[in-house]
Amino acid sequence: MTATHPNPGATHVCGPYDNMRDYVAALEANGRLLRIAEMDADRFEPTGFAYRLIEAQGFHQAPAFMIERLKINGAWLDGPVLGNAFPGWDGEALAFGAEPYTADQGKARAQGSALLEELLASDGNWPTRAPQTVSAADAPCKQNIHTGGEIDLRRFAWLQTNPRDAGRYLTAASVFMEDPELGRNVGTYRCQLKGADKIGVNAEVGQHAWQFIDRARKAGRKTIAAAAVVGADPITFAVGTSKITRLGEDELDVAGGLRRKPVQLVKCESHDVLVPAQAEIIIEGEIPVDRMEAEGPYGEVYGYMGLEKPENFFMQVKAVTFRDRPLIVNSFAGITKLTLMLPQNVTDKARYRAQIPGLVDVYRPIETTGVTLVSINKTAAGEGLAAGRIIAEQDIFAKTIIVVDGDIDIHNFTQVFHALGTRWQPHPAAETIASTKGFPLDPSQPKRWVTSKMILDATRQYPEEGGPEQWPEVSRVLLEQLSPEVFDLVESRWQEYFRA
Ligand SMILES: Cc1cc2nc3c(=O)[nH]c(=O)nc-3n(C[C@H](O)[C@H](O)[C@H](O)COP(=O)(O)O)c2cc1C
Repeated sequence: MTATHPNPGATHVCGPYDNMRDYVAALEANGRLLRIAEMDADRFEPTGFAYRLIEAQGFHQAPAFMIERLKINGAWLDGPVLGNAFPGWDGEALAFGAEPYTADQGKARAQGSALLEELLASDGNWPTRAPQTVSAADAPCKQNIHTGGEIDLRRFAWLQTNPRDAGRYLTAASVFMEDPELGRNVGTYRCQLKGADKIGVNAEVGQHAWQFIDRARKAGRKTIAAAAVVGADPITFAVGTSKITRLGEDELDVAGGLRRKPVQLVKCESHDVLVPAQAEIIIEGEIPVDRMEAEGPYGEVYGYMGLEKPENFFMQVKAVTFRDRPLIVNSFAGITKLTLMLPQNVTDKARYRAQIPGLVDVYRPIETTGVTLVSINKTAAGEGLAAGRIIAEQDIFAKTIIVVDGDIDIHNFTQVFHALGTRWQPHPAAETIASTKGFPLDPSQPKRWVTSKMILDATRQYPEEGGPEQWPEVSRVLLEQLSPEVFDLVESRWQEYFRA
C-alpha cells in the first residue's frame, strides 16, 4: 500500500477547509479514510467495493476510501480516486467545523445541525460572503495548464461505475456558468467522458444550468462558456448540489457564508468564468446551445439504470488546468453518500417548522430516496396527517411519508419501523394521494413526472382519531423513570465492558 499524504503540510484538522485535500487529511487524521493501493476498474472493482463497504459497515459508518492507482482500459492510471468522500454525520461536522470531533453519529449530527441552525438567519436565509479573486500565481489549480493539442481528458482516472453505463463519467463535477443578468450558477451535473476534449453535461430540464443555457439560446448566442470543476472544497461542492439558492442567487456567496471565509476564485484560461482557485481539476469550454448529442444510460441515484438520452448538452473543451497529482472525487451514485446533506436538511427543517406545528425533525434519507420521515409533538387530532400533506405537496421526492411522534429518532430506522409496527393502524391512519407531480427518476412511475403518494401517520392516535382509549407506557421510558441513574452507570463503565 502506498502511504503518500494527500496534502503534506496540512495543519488544521477542523473545518471549514480551504480545499478538498485538507478535508481528506482531516478525515484521515480522525480514522475516517481508507487507503487502497490499487484496484482493477476494468473489472469494476471500485464499484463492487463501494457496495460491499456500505453493506458491511453501514451507510453513515463506512469511511471514505482513496484508491491510488487504477487499471482503466488495460493501462494503470494514477489516481487518487476518492469514494464516499463525505462519510457519515461526523464527516459533515468536520467539514462545517463543528467541534470537538466525535465519531458518534447522533452527536455529530446534532453538533453539525446546531452550528448550521445558528448560521441560518431567522428569515430562513443563509449568511453570504462574496468570493475573492486571486491571481493565477496563487491558484493551485493552475499548477498544470493544458490547451490545444495537449488536452486529453482520457488520461485522468474517471471511472465507469456500472458495466451498463454509457462510459466513464465525471460523476461529481460542479459546473460553473455565468449569465449577463443572473450572474453565476454552480450546480453538479454528471458529465460523460466523450473523448479527449469533449464531455457531456447532464443538466436536467428546469435545472438552473438548463435555464442559463436556454437564456443564452434565446439571446441568440451559439455557445455558453462553462467550467466543470472537480474537487472544489467540500462546502462549495455541497452548496452546488443543494436546492438552497434561488435562480440568480450566487451559490458562492452562500458557500462563503457557510465557510465563514470567502471562496477564492481565479479566471479561466480560455474565457472569463471564475473558478475555485484551490480546486483539483478545471475543465473549461463552451457548451453549444442549439446542438445536442446522445448521452447515457447511467446508474442513477435511485439505484437503477437510467435511460439513454437521445439529446443532451455537451461541452467542447478548450483548456484543462489541474493540481499536481489531482484528486478525483467519484460519487458512486445510488451506492454511497453523494454530498454533505446538512445545508439541505437544515433549510428544509426551518421551512417546515414555520408550517407544521410541533415539528421536531424532518429527514429525507438519501439512501432510500422516495421516503421522507417526519417527527412531531402532536397536540391535537389530525396533526399527523396534516403534517404529511404539507410535505407531500411541497417535496417532489417525498412519495412515502411516515409521520411519527417526537420521541422517535427518525434517523434510527429501527425506531421508525418499531413505531410502524406498534403505533400505527393502516386504517384510518393513512392517506393516499392518487396522482400528483413526482420526481421523474423514480423507476416505479408508469408515467414520468406523475406519482401517487402515501402518508402513514404512525403517531399515537387519539381516541377521536380511531386510536385506543389508553396507550401503555414505553418500557425503556419506565426504566429511566424508575431507575434514573441506569444509563449514566452503563455509560461510565462502557469501555470496561469491552476490555478483554
Ligand atoms: C453527485 C451528484 C450528481 C448529480 N447529478 C445531477 C445530474 O446529472 N443532473 C441534474 O440535473 N442534477 C444532478 N444532481 C442534482 C443537482 O446537483 C442539484 O439539483 C443542484 O441543486 C443543481 O443546481 P441548480 O439548482 O443550480 O441547477 C446531482 C447531485 C449530486 C450530489
